[in-house]
Amino acid sequence: MSKKNEIVKERIPRHIAIIMDGNGRWAKKQGLARMFGHKQGVTTVHNITEAAAEIGIEYLTLYAFSTENWNRPKEEVDALMALLVDTIAKETPTLMKNNVRLLTIGDINRLPQATREKFLGCIEQTSTNTGLNLVLALSYSSRWEMIEATKRIAAEVQNGTMSIDDINEATISNHLTTNGIPDPDLLIRTSGELRISNFLLWQIAYSELYFTDKLWPEFTVDDLYEAIIDYQHRERRFGKTSEQLKVES
Ligand code: IPE
Ligand code: IPE
Ligand code: MG
Repeated sequence: MSKKNEIVKERIPRHIAIIMDGNGRWAKKQGLARMFGHKQGVTTVHNITEAAAEIGIEYLTLYAFSTENWNRPKEEVDALMALLVDTIAKETPTLMKNNVRLLTIGDINRLPQATREKFLGCIEQTSTNTGLNLVLALSYSSRWEMIEATKRIAAEVQNGTMSIDDINEATISNHLTTNGIPDPDLLIRTSGELRISNFLLWQIAYSELYFTDKLWPEFTVDDLYEAIIDYQHRERRFGKTSEQLKVES
């Protein structure tokens, strides 16, 4: 039986972020080239996005390509960029059917023109959808984002539109590429690696972390439900005591 019935509808995380890792190892396990793993990974993206939309998640952020991933062998980078074009073309009708709005975070100016244009087209086409917001992190890293934010804040101080004393948490949040997107409630990483790899460092300050040994191509909808159920058993204290939380609720 699916674990779906165990999910408490009133405590669905508003925003789930996922570090989709393990495509290469999955392919290697069956003696295939790394790209087979990436292709299979796209099927997982399809399934997880549909499931997230269906259970009423508001934001799903997927780490698809990091700033550091540009340092992979050129053949893999080129093949990944081509796979992205192909995937957007194939998946746009499903996004429309499921009322999903596509967004991206990251330095999309670094993407090849064909890839960038496909994304911008899909973002435009899905812009009035009102269901799940699917946020793809592409050419993204947290340190890149923080540098960009710092430059823009410094420029505003320099030209007099902001004073140093006005800089607060909201200022930083509003200058990140995730501006307007709530912080993740739950961060999942597949493949057994216990690290963050430069993903959403500011935004995950109080996220619940969930690590699984499953490789991304073998991560199922039931695995997603299991992560959500695990999340629902956590107590998010945000620095307070457990007793305080009980009085407040
Ligand atoms: C994650 O899978 C996808 C990307 C980073 C693009 P990997 O390609 O990192 O797979 P492993 O970690 O080598 O198994
Ligand atoms: C993190 O995976 C980036 C993405 C999932 C896109 P990596 O496979 O690049 O991370 P590291 O290098 O093992 O930390
Ligand atoms: Mg990896």
